[in-house]
Amino acid sequence: MSVHVLDIVNSPCDLNSICDTLIDLAFRAGEIINGALPDTGNTGSKKNSADLVTEYDRAVEEMISRELKDKYPDFRFHGEESYDPACPLTDAPTFVIDPIDGTVNFVHGFPHACVSLGFAINRIPTIGVVFNPFTNTLYSAIRGKGAFLNRDTRLPLKGSNVEALNGLSNSLVCVEWGSERSGKNWETKMRTFEKLGQDKEEGGAMVRSLRSIGSAALNLCAVASGTLDLYWEGGCWAWDVCAGWVILEEAGGIIVGGNPGEWEAKVDGRKYLAIRAASSRVSQEELAEEFWGIVQGRLEY
Ligand code: IPD
Ligand code: CA
Repeated sequence: MSVHVLDIVNSPCDLNSICDTLIDLAFRAGEIINGALPDTGNTGSKKNSADLVTEYDRAVEEMISRELKDKYPDFRFHGEESYDPACPLTDAPTFVIDPIDGTVNFVHGFPHACVSLGFAINRIPTIGVVFNPFTNTLYSAIRGKGAFLNRDTRLPLKGSNVEALNGLSNSLVCVEWGSERSGKNWETKMRTFEKLGQDKEEGGAMVRSLRSIGSAALNLCAVASGTLDLYWEGGCWAWDVCAGWVILEEAGGIIVGGNPGEWEAKVDGRKYLAIRAASSRVSQEELAEEFWGIVQGRLEY
């Protein structure tokens, strides 16, 4: 079946009802996550000891995938725990799902993890639902219809009073360590982190501070809210960013690539730079260029 993005975007009932379905599923996933007893010493690992998976990641994805396939048999499903490298994301309408984003936090009981439910058409993130069951915080957005916190507060939180962006040295920046701890990407990240923090007198950007809180989806929602100014990421996957992407753009933020000059970011491109809403697009682009000037090398995934 071929479905064009405009057929769905021009059909408000469908997008609204898909979003409502995803919100219901997010709450059901939250019950599983809140009822879980993860154990820091008894988790499975995928690539290494920093790349974790638990029985709860699998149970949440199974529940979501079963329900979505039953209700929307024509749409594809692209989920972290059932991902097959032979089946990459396509242009077809697809649910792009991370059952638990922030699994390291989840197993340690650090209350910063979420279920991330995205829907993409032509690989354009179109619906996003992100729910942190530890804090009962729900973010949601439909392309063209705005982004919301707990369904009633429009994002960004400061609304039309959103402040101007005023350079990296006045910014709170989010980065993540990821699970790959050697090689060229690791070098690029470490040297960039150092430059971001370093005193201007020594050639650094001297950002206000760096945050690394372990969930790409929640990081994007924080940029959408305006509580973080920028988020730079390399190495995560479409399921980590699809939902948060719509929420960010609908909140007036922008997302570009993680390497210098990458103005067109792809949802499955694995390297991203997200910038919060500001009074002018020019100041967002200037901040992207200033950030790219600090990147030490290139991210290659
Ligand atoms: C991880 C988180 C983390 C990001 C990693 C992701 P997971 O997702 O989003 O913030 O830096 O690249 O893999 O493994 O907790 O679903
Ligand atoms: Ca995950």
